[in-house]
Amino acid sequence: MEETRKPNPNREGDPMADLKPLNIGLIGCGFMGRTHSNAYKRVNDFFDAPYRPVLKACCARSEENARHFAGRWGYESIETDWRKLIARRDIDAVDICAPNNMHAEIAIAAAQAGKAVLCEKPLAMNLVQGHQMVDAVEKAGVANTVWYNYRRVPAVTLAKQLIESGRLGRIFHYRANFLQDWTISADLPQGGTGLWRLDADVSGSGVTGDLLAHCIDTAIWLNGHIGSVAGMTETFVKERRHNLTGKVQPVHIDDACAFLCRFDNGSLGLFESTRYARGHKALYTFEINGEKASIKWDLHDLHRLEYFDHGDDSLVRGWRSVHVTDSDMPYMKHWWVPGLQIGYEHTFVHHVADFLDNLAMGQPTAPTFRDALATQAVCDAVLDSADHHKWETVVPV
Ligand SMILES: NC(=O)c1ccc[n+]([C@@H]2O[C@H](COP(=O)([O-])OP(=O)(O)OC[C@H]3O[C@@H](n4cnc5c(N)ncnc54)[C@H](O)[C@@H]3O)[C@@H](O)[C@H]2O)c1
Repeated sequence: MEETRKPNPNREGDPMADLKPLNIGLIGCGFMGRTHSNAYKRVNDFFDAPYRPVLKACCARSEENARHFAGRWGYESIETDWRKLIARRDIDAVDICAPNNMHAEIAIAAAQAGKAVLCEKPLAMNLVQGHQMVDAVEKAGVANTVWYNYRRVPAVTLAKQLIESGRLGRIFHYRANFLQDWTISADLPQGGTGLWRLDADVSGSGVTGDLLAHCIDTAIWLNGHIGSVAGMTETFVKERRHNLTGKVQPVHIDDACAFLCRFDNGSLGLFESTRYARGHKALYTFEINGEKASIKWDLHDLHRLEYFDHGDDSLVRGWRSVHVTDSDMPYMKHWWVPGLQIGYEHTFVHHVADFLDNLAMGQPTAPTFRDALATQAVCDAVLDSADHHKWETVVPV
C-alpha cells in the first residue's frame, strides 16, 4: 500500500520522460470498464508511477459498443473476442471488467499467455473456480490483483493504520452492512448489462458475492481471518422475466444475506446485505469496537473516519469525526490541499498507482488473487451455512 511506497528508480531525472509503457487490454465496457479507464488515464497526472498505462485495446462483444467506448476513452483499438485480445503481443496487462462468470476463463487464459491480470471482484463464481485461478497466476508467475477498491479509500487505509498501531487494542466486535434498494420491484427483469447480477448463472450469487464480498475483503484486511460463519439468505422475488430469453424464470440469487462470524483474533462479526432496504442506494458501513477505542466508516461520507478514544480526557471524551484530507493521511498528498475531498473514482486511481509501483519492484499488489480467494472462501461458507442451517468452518486457503 501507499504508505510503504519507496522512491522509484524509474522516475529519476525528468519526471515525465522515460516512463515505461504498460499496454492495457480491457475486457468489458460497462460500469467498471469506465472506472478503470478513468484510473489509467489519471494516474500519471497525480502519482509518480513508474509506468504509463497505454489504453491499447478494449473488448466488447458488439463492435458498435467497443467502438463507442474506445472513442470516448481513447483506446487505440478494439476487439470483439477476448481471446484475440489476449493473443495480442502488444498487450501487457489484461483487465477483466466482464461479469463474474467470465472471470475464471479469461484470467486463466491471460495468465497462461504471460500477461499481468487485474480482475474485478468477486474473484470467481465459487471457491473451486477461485483455486484454479490462483493456481494459474501463481504457476505463470504473473502480476495479479483483484479490484476490492474500498481498501484504498483514504479513511479506510487510515483505519488499517490505526488498528496496526495498536490504538484500538484487543478487538471485540466487527459489524458491517452493505444496503441497496434497486431490486424491490418484481417487474425488474433479470439478465443482460447490469441486470446479470440477478441471474445466478452469470453472477454466481446475489448480494453475498456482489456486496458482502466487499465487506468481507475489508474485514479480513482490517481484522484478520474469519474462522466460522452462520448465515441466512432470502430470495424475496422468486421469478423474474429474463431479458435474454423473454421468459419468466426462477430467480436463484440471494436477495438478502446476513451472517454471524468468529474471527481468529477472538472477535465477533455481524454482517448484513440486501437490495431491499428502501431508501439506501449504496450504504456500506463498518464499525469496529476495541478495548481502547472504536472506529466507524460510512461510504456515503467516505472521507470521514469516526474515532472514539477511551484514553481521552473524560471531560472532552467523545466521537471525533476525522476529516481524512490532510497531506500526512493516506494517499492525500497526491491530490489537492488539506480540507479538500476526493471521491469514489480515486480509489481506482490509488489501486493502479500501487499496482504500477509494485510491478516495477516485483512485489505483489494486495489484494492478490490468493487474498481474494480468502474472501471467496468466506462467501462460499456463508452460502453453505444458509443452505444447511448450521455453522460452517471457513476452509483455510
Ligand atoms: N469494485 C467494485 O466496486 C465493483 C463495482 C461494480 C461491479 N464490479 C464487478 O465488475 C464486473 C463488471 O461489472 P459491471 O458493473 O461493470 O457490469 P456491467 O454490466 O456494467 O458491464 C459488464 C460489461 O461486460 C460486457 N461483457 C459481457 N460478456 C462479455 C464478453 N464475453 N466479452 C466482452 N465483454 C463482455 C457487457 O457487455 C458489459 O458491457 C463484475 O465482476 C462486478 O462484480 C465491481
